[in-house]
Amino acid sequence: MDTAEQKRAAAAAALEWVRPQLRSGVVIGVGTGSTADHFIDLLAASGAAFAGAVASSSRSAERLSRLGVKVFDLNEAGELPIYVDGADEIDPALRMTKGGGGALTREKIVAAASRSFVCIADASKRVAALGAFPLPVEVIPMAREHVVRRLRTLAATEALGEPTFVVRSTAGVPLVTDNGNAIIDVHGWRIADPCRIEARIGGIVGVVESGLFALRAADLLLLAGADGVERVTAAT
Ligand code: A5P
Repeated sequence: MDTAEQKRAAAAAALEWVRPQLRSGVVIGVGTGSTADHFIDLLAASGAAFAGAVASSSRSAERLSRLGVKVFDLNEAGELPIYVDGADEIDPALRMTKGGGGALTREKIVAAASRSFVCIADASKRVAALGAFPLPVEVIPMAREHVVRRLRTLAATEALGEPTFVVRSTAGVPLVTDNGNAIIDVHGWRIADPCRIEARIGGIVGVVESGLFALRAADLLLLAGADGVERVTAAT
């Protein structure tokens, strides 16, 4: 299977995993990205009699609605039984870097509100240690340069290396997230202790969320490779 086929295979495996829970009244969490798009398409076509979904982005909400899946506000839905989403990197403890699609804050909220997080990924996403993928940090726009200075200090005090900081933009126009904020992508640092670094970044005033998902890692990884889909739980 090539990468595109792997994404679809991981999404199909997630649907099979979730299907026994898709009963009347059940609302599930759905993520963002090309792998999550496959899951949305398969979920909508499944014919399962569930109530609907909470989406982690306006993009996913639109796709769900267009395909006939009712979209709930998280405040109405309450705690969710399961959240299905992709990742940009995932390590053996099922800690992740996310936010390549810019939806990291809502993804972290929906994950936090879900009893179980199922990550769906192609083989390229599995890494021994997080850090090669630039870490997205969503910031309140007026705090952008303050946060960059604090992140530079954090990198020095925690011996993370000498990162570079890129404000995410398209054709020179800064990206605005679903929450009206900016994203700084942090390149080139070593994240030796993801839980500690996630907490330290979260403590910087002006940071909304980082794309480190270590304090709340995935519970299950459905990892698609050339020969099929493997169910992976966290290595202890
Ligand atoms: C979205 O903000 C991200 O967290 C995605 O989950 C991640 O970028 C994975 O995307 P793909 O499924 O497109 O690889």
